[in-house]
Amino acid sequence: MSTSTKILSFVFLALGLSLLAQSEDTLKIKPSYHEVNYFVEDNEACLKCHGETKYILEDPENERISIKRMGPCKVVDRDKFYTSVHKSFSCTDCHSGDFMDFPHSIESRFEEKLLCMDCHGYDETYAQYHFEGIETEFTESAHNKEGFSCWSCHDPHSYKAFMRNADDLADAILYDNSMCLKCHADFSEFSMLTDREEIVLVESHDWLPNQAAHFAKIRCIECHTEINDTILIAHKIMPKASAVKNCTECHSKDSRLMHTLYKFESLEQRKGGFVNSIMINNSYVIGANQNILLNRLSLLVFGMTLLVIVFHTYLRIKNQKKS
Ligand code: HEC
Ligand code: HEC
Ligand code: HEC
Ligand code: HEC
Ligand code: HEC
Ligand code: HEC
Ligand code: HEC
Repeated sequence: MSTSTKILSFVFLALGLSLLAQSEDTLKIKPSYHEVNYFVEDNEACLKCHGETKYILEDPENERISIKRMGPCKVVDRDKFYTSVHKSFSCTDCHSGDFMDFPHSIESRFEEKLLCMDCHGYDETYAQYHFEGIETEFTESAHNKEGFSCWSCHDPHSYKAFMRNADDLADAILYDNSMCLKCHADFSEFSMLTDREEIVLVESHDWLPNQAAHFAKIRCIECHTEINDTILIAHKIMPKASAVKNCTECHSKDSRLMHTLYKFESLEQRKGGFVNSIMINNSYVIGANQNILLNRLSLLVFGMTLLVIVFHTYLRIKNQKKS
C-alpha cells in the first residue's frame, strides 16, 4: 500500500468508526437528560469513553487505532448520573479541564477534589440537610481515616437523597445498605483503605437470628450509629464494640427505631406504600397498640365495614320490597 492510500484508509476507518459511535450516541442520549442538564453534549466528550465499557485509542502519528477496555471503576453510567443529585452538572464542574486531553496528564491526576462542604457548607439553601452536623459526626466516626471522605460512600456520579424522597421503605433500606456493602461485601474496595483482614459480615453477625430478614427491614446504620434526633441520617459510625446487640433496643415499646429508621421530618408528605410498610413493621416489632396511625387506620376500616353493612341492609330491604 502506498503512504497516501494508507492515510486514506486510516481516515475512512476513523470516520466510519466515529459515525458508528455517533449513531450509537444519539441512541444513548435520552431526551430526559436535556431536561435536567445544559451540558449534555459537552459531557459526551468524556462519556464517549467513560460512558462505555470500551474506548477507541487513537495513534494518529502512526495511523493506528485500537479498541481498549475501560476499567469498570472508571465507567460513569449516564442514567444514574442524570438522575443523581448533581444531575445538572458538567463533568468539568468538578474535574479539571485538563482531562479533555488523552492520555490524561499527570497534573490532572493530582487535581484537588472538591468536598461536599466546599459547596454546601453554611449555605441556607441546604439547611434542611444539616451538612455541618453531618461533617462533625463523620469526623468522630470510625471511618475517619486517611483516604476516606464523604465521596467514599456518596458515589459522585450516582448519589441520590434516597431516604428523604423514597416512596418505598424497603427500597430505601436497600439503597442505604448497598452504600455500606460497596466496601463491606467487596474486599478489593475495603483493602484500598485498610490493612485489616477481610471482615465476613455473615460471621460477625452470626448472633443475629434470621440475618436476611433483618438486613431487609433495617439499615446497617440503625445498629452502628449513635442516635441523633436533629439530622435525618446519623453519620457517626461507632467502633464495633458500641454497636447495638441487645434485641430489646428494637423489640420493645420504646424502640430505638422510632429515633432512627422510622423518624421523619414530614411523614404526611409520604405516599401510602412507605407509611404502610412502617406500620406493618411497627406492629410486628413493637406492638400495634401504641401506634396512632394504625389506630386511625383501624377506625377507618371499622367505619368502612359499617358503611358496607348499612348499604347491604339497604339493598336487601329494597330487593325484598321488589319481590
Ligand atoms: C479517549 C477516551 C477518554 C476520554 C475522551 C476521557 N477519558 Fe478520562 N480516562 C480514560 C481512561 C482510559 C482512563 C483510565 C486510564 C488512565 O488513568 O489513564 C481515564 C481516567 C480518568 C480519570 C481517573 C484519573 C486517575 O488518575 O485516577 C478521571 C478523573 C477521568 N478520566 C476524567 C475524565 C473527564 C472529566 C473527561 C472529559 C473532560 C475524560 N476523562 C475524558 C479515557 C478517556
Ligand atoms: C459533583 C462532582 C462531580 C461531577 C459532576 C463529576 N465527577 Fe467524576 N469524580 C468526582 C469525585 C469527587 C471523584 C473521586 C471519587 C473518589 O475519590 O472516590 C470522581 C472520580 C471520577 C473518575 C475516576 C473514578 C475512579 O474511581 O477512579 C472518573 C473516570 C470520573 N470521575 C469521570 C467523570 C465524568 C465522565 C463526569 C461527567 C459525566 C464526572 N466525573 C462528573 C466528582 C464529580
Ligand atoms: C462543586 C460543588 C458541589 C459539591 C462538591 C457537592 N455538591 Fe451537592 N449540590 C451542588 C449544587 C449546585 C446542587 C444543586 C443542583 C441542582 O439544583 O440542580 C447540589 C445538590 C445537592 C443535593 C440536593 C439538594 C436539593 O435539595 O435539591 C444534595 C442532597 C447534595 N447536593 C449532596 C451533596 C453531597 C452529600 C456532597 C458530597 C458527597 C455534595 N453534594 C457535593 C453542589 C455541590
Ligand atoms: C459511611 C458512609 C457515609 C459517609 C462516609 C458519609 N455519608 Fe452521608 N449518607 C450516608 C448514607 C447511608 C446516607 C443515606 C442516603 C439516603 O438514602 O438518603 C447519607 C445521607 C447523607 C445526606 C442526606 C441527608 C438527608 O437529610 O437527606 C447528606 C447531606 C450527607 N449524607 C452528607 C454527607 C457528608 C457531608 C459527608 C462527609 C462529611 C458524608 N455524608 C459522609 C452514608 C455516608
Ligand atoms: C441488629 C444490629 C446490626 C445490624 C443491622 C448490623 N450490624 Fe454490624 N455489627 C453489629 C454488632 C453488635 C457488631 C459487633 C459484633 C461483635 O461484637 O462481635 C457488628 C459488627 C460489625 C462490623 C465489624 C466486624 C468485625 O469483625 O470487625 C462491621 C464491619 C459491621 N458490623 C458492618 C455492618 C454492615 C455493613 C451492616 C449492614 C449490612 C451491619 N453491620 C448491620 C450489629 C449490627
Ligand atoms: C469506602 C469503603 C467503606 C464504606 C462505603 C463503608 N465502610 Fe465501614 N469500614 C471501611 C474500612 C476500610 C473499615 C476499617 C477501618 C479500620 O482500618 O479500622 C471499616 C470499618 C467499619 C466498622 C468497624 C469499626 C471497628 O470498630 O472496627 C463498622 C461497624 C463499619 N465500617 C460500618 C459501616 C457502615 C454501617 C457503612 C455504611 C453506612 C460503612 N461501614 C461503609 C470501609 C468502608
Ligand atoms: C435494630 C433493630 C433490631 C434489633 C437490634 C433486633 N431486631 Fe429483630 N427485627 C427487627 C425488625 C425491624 C424486624 C422485621 C419485622 C418485620 O418482619 O416486619 C425484625 C424481625 C425479627 C424476627 C422475625 C424474623 C422473621 O423471620 O421474619 C425475629 C425472630 C427477631 N427479629 C429476633 C431478634 C433477636 C433475637 C434479636 C437480638 C439478638 C433482634 N431481633 C434484634 C429489628 C431488630
